[in-house]
Amino acid sequence: MKEIDWSNLSFGYMKTDYNVRCYYRDGKWGELELCSEETLNIHMAATCLHYGQEAFEGLKAYRGKDGKIRVFRPDANAERLQSTCRGILMPEFSTEKFCEAVRMVVKANERFIPPYESGASLYIRPLLIGTGAQVGVHPANEYLFVVFVTPVGPYFKGGFATNPYVIIREYDRAAPLGTGTFKVGGNYAASLRANKMAHDAGYASEFYLDAKEKKYIDECGAANFFGIKDNTYVTPLSTSILPSITNRSLMQLAEDMGMKVERRPIPEEELTTFEEAGACGTAAVISPIERIDDLENHKSYVISKDGKPGPISEKLYHKLRAIQYGDEPDPYGWVMIVD
Ligand code: PLP
Ligand code: COI
Repeated sequence: MKEIDWSNLSFGYMKTDYNVRCYYRDGKWGELELCSEETLNIHMAATCLHYGQEAFEGLKAYRGKDGKIRVFRPDANAERLQSTCRGILMPEFSTEKFCEAVRMVVKANERFIPPYESGASLYIRPLLIGTGAQVGVHPANEYLFVVFVTPVGPYFKGGFATNPYVIIREYDRAAPLGTGTFKVGGNYAASLRANKMAHDAGYASEFYLDAKEKKYIDECGAANFFGIKDNTYVTPLSTSILPSITNRSLMQLAEDMGMKVERRPIPEEELTTFEEAGACGTAAVISPIERIDDLENHKSYVISKDGKPGPISEKLYHKLRAIQYGDEPDPYGWVMIVD
């Protein structure tokens, strides 16, 4: 194998040795299978190709200073995948089987787990797709669960550094009562144009307001939003955002740090009041926000006056990383050790 430059990895796909697959046929899930093939052979009328019966997840494995491999909150990803399956009428995959598949794929690709010092990690991407042929708009009768891994570096430029975001009103990623709370591919297809607009204009990512009124903050591209002021961690309550596991973990850590936590609709104007703000997610971890531009209204909400991450975001970031890498105790049993 060519030497991997662990410290300069981007957030991209790299071929690894194995993936794990499981087939749903005749009304039940089969056994987990280890596979070295990168491609899938599926029917051209599969529902995932026509009607978007596709769900995915994202989680990470970390190599600790002690050499141990830790996966962060796989049970929470399993539960979110089950929720997505209920949302688009696919058969649920049990938490136990999900965690076993994650364990199996991580173990089989152990040589791709970045070393502790590199700060990189192994991204784990499970997907569950409708593979049964269907021409009418109906759920499939056959499904495939796959989980692959790839070593990754930071999702946003510079890792833990501030970035600018831009409010996009032209396109919504999800409708108020649509599939925004589910991790389905369609939401990401819907986000591509807004994401390109933001990138072309030099922003880290697009920033969404609620689809109905364009009054409240929804999400920062593929990450949740949090703001900090008066020793309070504030994050949106909305029917069209993905329930982020990172955000849920940060809410807990903020509370443990003696902060108040508020989950409520956040009007756009409130952006002027935050002392710090960040985008959070598995890929992004915490990406502190420098400013959010509202080009249509000729406004720029500058959050970080000196362009640096704020002290509370920094503390939350280090606390979360310390638990993920096993540098500090894991009081909530968030980590699954793979051995
Ligand atoms: N919001 C969206 C739209 C996402 O794609 C993600 C990534 O999974 C998140 C938020 C963050 O969620 P999590 O912290 O569970 O990775
Ligand atoms: C994640 O944070 O895991 C994501 O899924 C974000 C993006 C790569 C889709």
